[in-house]
Amino acid sequence: MAKINKAACIGGGVIGGAWAARFVLAGIDTRIFDPHPEAERLLSEVMANAERAYQMLTSAPLPKKGTLSFCNSIEEAVQGADWIQESVPERLEFKHGVLLQIDAAAEPKALIGSSTSGLLPSELQRGMKHPERMFVAHPFNPVYLLPLVELVGGQLTTRAVLEDARDRLSTVGMKGVIIKKEIDGFVGDRLQEAFWREALWLINDDICDTETLDDIIRYSFGLRWAQMGLFETYRIAGGEAGMRDFLSKYGPILAWPWTKLTDVVDLNDELIEKIVGQSEAQSGKRGIRELERIRDQNLVGILQALKAGDEGRGWGAGALVTEFETHLWKTTPKPKLNPTSQPMRLLDVKVHPSWIDYNGHMTEHRYTQCFANASDELLRLIGADMDYVQAGHSYYTVESHVRLLAEAKLGDALYVTAQLLPSDGKKIRTFMWLYRASDNTLVSTYENLMLHVSSEESRSVPPLPEVITKLKPLIEAHSVLPPPDAAGRSVGQGN
Ligand SMILES: NC(=O)c1ccc[n+]([C@@H]2O[C@H](COP(=O)([O-])OP(=O)(O)OC[C@H]3O[C@@H](n4cnc5c(N)ncnc54)[C@H](O)[C@@H]3O)[C@@H](O)[C@H]2O)c1
Repeated sequence: MAKINKAACIGGGVIGGAWAARFVLAGIDTRIFDPHPEAERLLSEVMANAERAYQMLTSAPLPKKGTLSFCNSIEEAVQGADWIQESVPERLEFKHGVLLQIDAAAEPKALIGSSTSGLLPSELQRGMKHPERMFVAHPFNPVYLLPLVELVGGQLTTRAVLEDARDRLSTVGMKGVIIKKEIDGFVGDRLQEAFWREALWLINDDICDTETLDDIIRYSFGLRWAQMGLFETYRIAGGEAGMRDFLSKYGPILAWPWTKLTDVVDLNDELIEKIVGQSEAQSGKRGIRELERIRDQNLVGILQALKAGDEGRGWGAGALVTEFETHLWKTTPKPKLNPTSQPMRLLDVKVHPSWIDYNGHMTEHRYTQCFANASDELLRLIGADMDYVQAGHSYYTVESHVRLLAEAKLGDALYVTAQLLPSDGKKIRTFMWLYRASDNTLVSTYENLMLHVSSEESRSVPPLPEVITKLKPLIEAHSVLPPPDAAGRSVGQGN
């Protein structure tokens, strides 16, 4: 399968830094060149926010992080890289010079993507030794969460390179879309700029202030756009009669003077001061990294809602998160079971910001989630993993009992250990403990019963022999352990 083995980021600012985070968190060794004196500090802050976001986004097994190395030159950074991402400031001649340097030093087959927001790839690849592997790979901020990349070839780029780039991006959880023809601003920024122009007029003409304008987006069509685009949304707006009806109903309005799109506002000092002042009043109370964390948490929430969309099959960017997780599960080495007569440590986890309730503690269902994730880990260990589920077999939890014994707080590191109680394999009964790692305080216990089922036949059946072969020695090893004190407790039972 096409993948990115080693990446290089030339330019590590807002965009280059977030590309580096996307690569490193997908397990790819990444070299970076950025002459900014504080490049390392800035990047470490982006990495910290990106890691925080991934912990909230997925419990799939992220691979061991790739290494991140800072280099002293473009030549050093591109050595051995098969994907080179240029993200230097948006000035044609400057970018072109940097890209020529990259082309001269890179392996001839290495792909070179430019993050440019709107410059033409044909102009950027001028004079290259190997222009056929150079293209625009235009991402959206924050690159580590937003999956879209516009892939735009120049006159000398081959179609095969664009397709290869699209395939490789899918292995880091991104969606590459190939744009048919190069055009200034491509598609995404053309749309955004049309919107931005109109917004500037509305502020200039004192129709509303920056905060009101943002509210109008985020409380209405911004929510729609996060899950359906423009055309699908308008199709629905046309009602049962659909798109044709929508166009005939609302088409004539386009001739009314509702927008000033072709008339560009004079962005003079007065208008700049006005916007800066309003924006300061709107958002100045918070620092940029704090705003980024709020943005990331909101995006994770929307992505997770989209993951549950279409009756759990996933919708849009949410379906892409599921695809990325499936890729991660498939590419992570299968865990090895080593049965000993000790409760087994199944899960290490940190209390995420989204797990906190109004009391400032981990909310109730997250305790169960920790145990459910630990149960999944146990099932993987005995070979009842995603492939097994896809082949039509699974274990379903049919009964559980959770005791909440201590509070877990934001950022606490927790771990789960488990003991198998007498089980025949068709039924698996477990007892689990959730501890706080810093002082081994017992935070919660869980007892559960899982039943092996055939999902096709919708009934309980014995597990396949390969699962029994792994499970039996574990059940036997744990049979010598004394039963946990709380095993078999009922709700409300006194001590
Ligand atoms: N910011 C966005 O939302 C956004 C979105 C998509 C694409 N882009 C595009 O990404 C590119 C980078 O934009 P940004 O927002 O990250 O800008 P930025 O100013 O944050 O980062 C640019 C970085 O390039 C570094 N740099 C300067 N000269 C260099 C050189 N010779 N070699 C290596 N690094 C060098 C700078 O030190 C800086 O850290 C631009 O082409 C921009 O159009 C930006």
